[in-house]
Amino acid sequence: MGLDLEYIDSQTALDEDEKEGLLIKSISTRFELDEFEQQNIERAIAWTMKKRFKIKEILTERFVRRLHNKMFDQTWRWAGEFRKSNKNIGVDKFQIGIELKYLLDDCKFWVENKSFSNDEIAIRFKHRMVHIHPFPNGNGRHSRLIADVLIEHGFAGHVFSWGSSNLTPKSNIRKDYLNALFAADKDNYEPLLKFARR
Ligand SMILES: Nc1ncnc2c1ncn2[C@@H]1O[C@H](COP(=O)(O)OP(=O)(O)OP(=O)(O)O)[C@@H](O)[C@H]1O
Ligand SMILES: [Mg+2]
Repeated sequence: MGLDLEYIDSQTALDEDEKEGLLIKSISTRFELDEFEQQNIERAIAWTMKKRFKIKEILTERFVRRLHNKMFDQTWRWAGEFRKSNKNIGVDKFQIGIELKYLLDDCKFWVENKSFSNDEIAIRFKHRMVHIHPFPNGNGRHSRLIADVLIEHGFAGHVFSWGSSNLTPKSNIRKDYLNALFAADKDNYEPLLKFARR
């Protein structure tokens, strides 16, 4: 059927030219890459913690890209740059900028009008972000971290738990996470709201 394991695991497969963007040539296994990315992300989290971002600043293309850049700048040459190829998830590569603008505008509207609870605004933002899939990789982690930044810096709330587990491809927790995302695809945000605070 042409469905490959990468798709079933809901992990975005890297194109050959994207693999070339790897900054550390000594990385040869998936495990090493995961470890390296994790250290990079921890530096990005430390960066967010020593700053104060206002909602107006967070809800900009500049910040969206900057956060991805901080998360992956030691790992990938394309950190913080939009995808240049299409994936099995995400909008068309030419629509990323405009779809992101719609999302940022919608989110500003939700904030100004208190359309939803603070948690629900952050969760809807995260879900739409990963649906756009702006970057070649790291979209899941980036969307979760930006939701955390929005809730903590924008709303003075507490960061999410995201199921209190690392969402590795084969874990049962990841299945719950993906099922919650699929419910959100159908406009039911309750499972993702619950998952994020579990
Ligand atoms: N069918 C789907 N519908 C909506 N979102 C999906 C779907 N499949 C995967 N995703 C999202 O895409 C993410 C995977 O994309 P990508 O590989 O770019 O991110 P990642 O940060 O490397 O992954 P991870 O979430 O495992 O850390 C998943 O975390 C999930 O949020
Ligand atoms: Mg990935």
